[in-house]
Amino acid sequence: MEVLRPPAALAATALLALAIAGCTTEYPIATEPAPTAISEDDTLSAFAPDGVKIGSAVAGGGHHEAQTYPDPFSGDEQYRSVLVAEFTSLTPENQLKWEYLRPTQDEYNFDAADAIIEFAQENGQDVRGHTLLWHSQNPGWLEQGNFTADELREILQDHITTVVSRYAGKIQQWDVANEIFDDAGGLRERDNIWIRELGPEIVADAFRWAHEADPDALLFVNDYNVEQIGAKSDAYYTLVQDLLAQGVPVHGFGVQGHLSIQYPAPSMQANLERFADLGLQVAITELDVRVPVSGDSRPEQSAIDTQAEYYSTMLEACLAVDACTSFTLWGLPDKYSWVPHFFSGEGAATVLWDDFSRKPAYCDLQELLAEKSGTTADAAFTSRVCAA
Ligand code: XIL
Repeated sequence: MEVLRPPAALAATALLALAIAGCTTEYPIATEPAPTAISEDDTLSAFAPDGVKIGSAVAGGGHHEAQTYPDPFSGDEQYRSVLVAEFTSLTPENQLKWEYLRPTQDEYNFDAADAIIEFAQENGQDVRGHTLLWHSQNPGWLEQGNFTADELREILQDHITTVVSRYAGKIQQWDVANEIFDDAGGLRERDNIWIRELGPEIVADAFRWAHEADPDALLFVNDYNVEQIGAKSDAYYTLVQDLLAQGVPVHGFGVQGHLSIQYPAPSMQANLERFADLGLQVAITELDVRVPVSGDSRPEQSAIDTQAEYYSTMLEACLAVDACTSFTLWGLPDKYSWVPHFFSGEGAATVLWDDFSRKPAYCDLQELLAEKSGTTADAAFTSRVCAA
C-alpha cells in the first residue's frame, strides 16, 4: 500500500511494528512478550481488492470525553500509526456531528474535524463525512431553540452548505441522512427535529443542498438494523426509489452494522444487491460485533471465534457485490470502542485487543481480502502468524 507518512507517524513506525503483528486467540496479558514485527504491507488495506476502501472510525469526542485516557486521535501515537497503516478511509467518529461543529447558533468550530481531515489528506485516505441530518448529538441551542419552521430550514441549509463546501474534494462520501427510520420502518417523526418540524420532504432538500455544495461527493442514507431485507431496509428501499424518481441526488446506501452475537448473523447480500440494482453504491459504514463480557474478565474463546465469523459474514457479502466499495470498522482497539458504554454486559467488539494485537476477526478479514484480491501467496500474507 502506498501511504504518505507525516513525521509523527514516521516516528511511530517502530511502535506500529510492535503493535499489530500476529493473531492472538488468547486475551493478551501484560506479561506476554511483545508480538513480533510486521511488515508494513501486512495490513487489511494491503490485501484489499482494487476499488474497495477499508476504513475505520477515528476515535475522539462522544463517549471518549468521559474517559481517563487522552484523546486517542491527538494523544495516542500508536493509534495514529495504526490508522495510517491499516486504512484507506477514515470516518470522524463524532467530530463532524452538530454538537461538535456548532457550539452556538452563530458559530462553527471546525478545529477537531479539520485535524482529522488534514491527517487523511496527508495519508492519501478517503473520508466519510458523518453526519448532516440526524436526531441525535444535536446541540441544546438547536433542540430547545423553539425556532419557526422557516428558521430551522435556514439553519439546516446554512449548515449543510457551509460544512459540505468546506470539505469539497476532501470528503468523498457523506452520510446525509442518518437513522431517519425506526425499526418498524416508520419515519422518526417525533425524535428527529428536522422531520418533525419540517416534514419528510426535508430529507430530499438535505440531499439537494449537499449536492450543490459538492457535486462530486457521494451522498448516502445510513442506518443500523438494515443489514438484511426487512421492514426497516424496505423503508429505505422505497424512500430511495422515491428520491431517485424525483431526481434527488442520492448515491449510496450505508449499512452501519452494529452487531451482537446474541442475535443471528445477518444475511446481507440480497439486500445490498437490490440497492445496487437501483444504481446506488453500498457501504458498510460502522461495523462492530459485540460479545458478552463480565467485569474485567476476558470474553469466552467461543464468543471471540463467533465474532470472527460475524465479521467474515459481513465482509463476504460486501465483497460479493461490486457496488460495495467501502468497508468501515467502527473503531479499534477494544479500549476505544463505544460499545461497553452503550451496551451493558457487552464489549470487546473490535478486531484488535487493547494492546493492538490481532483477534481472529482481524485475521479472517485479512484472509478474505487476500483471497478476493488473489494475493494469498504474497510473502506478507503467507509469513504472517495467524492462529487457526
Ligand atoms: C457513537 C460514537 O461512537 C460515540 O462516541 C458517541 O458517544 C455516540 O455515537 N450510530 C451512529 C454513530 O451513526 O454516530 C454512533 O456513534 C453509533 C451508532
